[in-house]
Amino acid sequence: MLFTDTINMCAEVAGLLWTKGWAERNGGNLVVNITGEVDENIRRLPPLMKPTALDTKMEQIAGWYFYCKGSGCRMRDLARKPMDNGCIIRIGPDGDTYETIACKPIKPTSELPSHLAIHNNLAASGSTRKATLHTHPTELVALSHIAELCDTERMNETLWSMIPETRLFCPKGVGFLAYADPGSKELAEGTLRMIGQHDAVIWEKHGVIAVGDDMMDAFDTVDILNKAAQIRCAIPR
Ligand code: 13P
Ligand code: ZN
Repeated sequence: MLFTDTINMCAEVAGLLWTKGWAERNGGNLVVNITGEVDENIRRLPPLMKPTALDTKMEQIAGWYFYCKGSGCRMRDLARKPMDNGCIIRIGPDGDTYETIACKPIKPTSELPSHLAIHNNLAASGSTRKATLHTHPTELVALSHIAELCDTERMNETLWSMIPETRLFCPKGVGFLAYADPGSKELAEGTLRMIGQHDAVIWEKHGVIAVGDDMMDAFDTVDILNKAAQIRCAIPR
């Protein structure tokens, strides 16, 4: 397959997430834009499942292709068998549906609304960034339980002050998004409002979503942010 390297990188990141302890059961998800890598054979593939309506029209990514973790699938399984635990989807010609076209009839992640909202925005701005990653990094989630850190400014002050690399590699910092239900339109809309101005968005008492040039780049952003959170958690108070 043309995009083997891209999918192998997703598998490598999935293994890292599991090793880090950030991917319990089916926790976390990833979506990568493979549109530039698909050939005519892939474009001709028929849908394996009925098209699913999107809550929000995604005109900028109409007709585009994405590899996604499957809903309910485990990162540790995706690390070994990416095509059994993930799928390739095609966005419909009007940007209001998607369909799974390979390799098995697997439904993409329940957080697809947040991921696609970001990809639609990236497309609108002409960005070449390809990857979005959502995971449950323990210490970042722990900080989102501390009431006085629960806003964008306080969270960034805290994370940036822990170790110089945080500001160096995450100069735009994180957006802090108040709790919204997993997979909800509210979560996707809140994420979209913040992601343009930040390197990642913290979902209160849930996890984080980051954008990267590729999946390893998105992983590095979360890794840097969580390192700062780990140091904050290690400081006796
Ligand atoms: P999925 O298994 O649907 O990807 O959900 C995992 C998750 O982390 C939801 O926020
Ligand atoms: Zn989650």
